[in-house]
Amino acid sequence: MGLKMKKLVVLSGAGISAESGIRTFRDADGLWEGHDVMEVASPAGWRNNQELVLDFYNQRRQQALSAIPNAGHKILADLENHFKVTIITQNVDNLHEKSGSSHIIHLHGELFKSRSTSHPELVYEVEGWELKTGDCCEKGAQLRPNIVWFGEDVPLMNTAISEVMAADIFIVIGTSLQVYPAASLINCVSKNAQKYIIDPNMPSIAKQSDLHLIEKGGSEGMAEVQEILLTEL
Ligand code: OAD
Repeated sequence: MGLKMKKLVVLSGAGISAESGIRTFRDADGLWEGHDVMEVASPAGWRNNQELVLDFYNQRRQQALSAIPNAGHKILADLENHFKVTIITQNVDNLHEKSGSSHIIHLHGELFKSRSTSHPELVYEVEGWELKTGDCCEKGAQLRPNIVWFGEDVPLMNTAISEVMAADIFIVIGTSLQVYPAASLINCVSKNAQKYIIDPNMPSIAKQSDLHLIEKGGSEGMAEVQEILLTEL
């Protein structure tokens, strides 16, 4: 047997899916596919207009069904051959799964899951793309997207913190680091870990950190990090 595999932890955001045709949140004037984020991603938005919110996520699901993982996702999946990889993603799409990564923490929930509005522990797979008014849990309550909206708790945050604290190698990719608590994960990584951030438009907060800055798009940047990591093996 070889040496024990190093632990590689990734924090990914919308930017890693950009090359797969899924738009990021903050690259378009704070609009998300034409909507104010609070309209479609907050409990108040849900109360105000459930149909709009359901329809919005139905569209996101349709888009995700036809989206294909890009080289950035694939390199992360391939790195499992050499490292113990955990991916903490803020993305609700399933492109990390589609590319074959096996240990994924969806910090902000998942497009292809629904949950009960009265019993949050009741979570279901969404088959296909549609979730509609009248789709109910086994207790008869309306189902909502299983997404962490603004103002809601992030139930997997402690799991994510433990993973980041234990990382030998930490890679941040495609996130503006503007949304908390997710962004605070960059402060949990050990001093001795190797740390990289990949982003073509480097967030200013990253420039003040001790992350190694790779100012490139997701697939090009991941190829560069992969080469560094494999050379060091
Ligand atoms: P943002 O849209 O805030 O940031 C996307 C980042 O990706 C930016 O820093 C871009 O410069 C970068 N980027 C753009 N194109 C890229 C490419 N080709 N390769 C790599 N990076 C690229 O998205 P997040 O930081 O993920 O929450 O947003 C965090 C959260 O806010 C999301 O999870 C979402 C949103 O509201 C929920 O849906 C609950």
